[in-house]
Amino acid sequence: MTRTIVVTGTDTGIGKTVFAAGLAAALGGAYWKPIQSGLDGAFSDSEVARRLGVRQVLPETYRLTEPLSPHRAAELDGIEIDPARLVPPQTDRTLVIEGAGGLLVPVTRSLLFADLFADWRAPAVLVARTALGTINHSLLSVEAMRARAIPILGIAFVGAANDDNEATICALAGVRRLGRLPWLDPLDAAMLASAFASYFRVEDFQ
Ligand SMILES: Nc1ncnc2c1ncn2[C@@H]1O[C@H](COP(=O)(O)OP(=O)(O)O)[C@@H](O)[C@H]1O
Ligand SMILES: [Mg+2]
Repeated sequence: MTRTIVVTGTDTGIGKTVFAAGLAAALGGAYWKPIQSGLDGAFSDSEVARRLGVRQVLPETYRLTEPLSPHRAAELDGIEIDPARLVPPQTDRTLVIEGAGGLLVPVTRSLLFADLFADWRAPAVLVARTALGTINHSLLSVEAMRARAIPILGIAFVGAANDDNEATICALAGVRRLGRLPWLDPLDAAMLASAFASYFRVEDFQ
């Protein structure tokens, strides 16, 4: 059976793709984005993951044009998302799966990402910013995960160090701090690999 790790987050645009790519690369794993919303302009998350050093990037099940929540982007494309098709693909590598946005983002009008993650029963990493606002977002996200019995591997922070925010969240939530990815400049595969090796322990994910 494929070993799977879900990467979710407190919000969109917080660094889930960068963290997931760093994790997949460090594990020699595969990356899968089940639903990509927004195909214009910028790189897709799968393309970013490949550029950041992930060796195996599995094709998305749905690719939607507009950069919106999948339930809406699918409607605008005239596509009906079939939850039965959103099953983690088989691979010999550890599979790192990135959802879209945060936990309560709708996949369809009757299914949330958190419901999918709960069905998969895979351990999940919560990616959280370190900056102001993160305590509330992180604790709400952990409550949503616990409410659905999603196994929580721990929290991966992204951004400049904020020791009190990180410690407060982990203590109040009773969740392990996996590490913190600093803001990287330049952001490329080599920098990400070296930062991941310095700031996380690969054993925590195995
Ligand atoms: N650790 C980091 N260092 C530098 N840039 C980052 C880092 N994490 C995220 N970014 C940048 O921030 C933006 C959002 O990150 P991304 O991983 O796509 O977020 P999400 O997947 O949560 O939407 C992207 O432009 C990405 O390159
Ligand atoms: Mg992303």
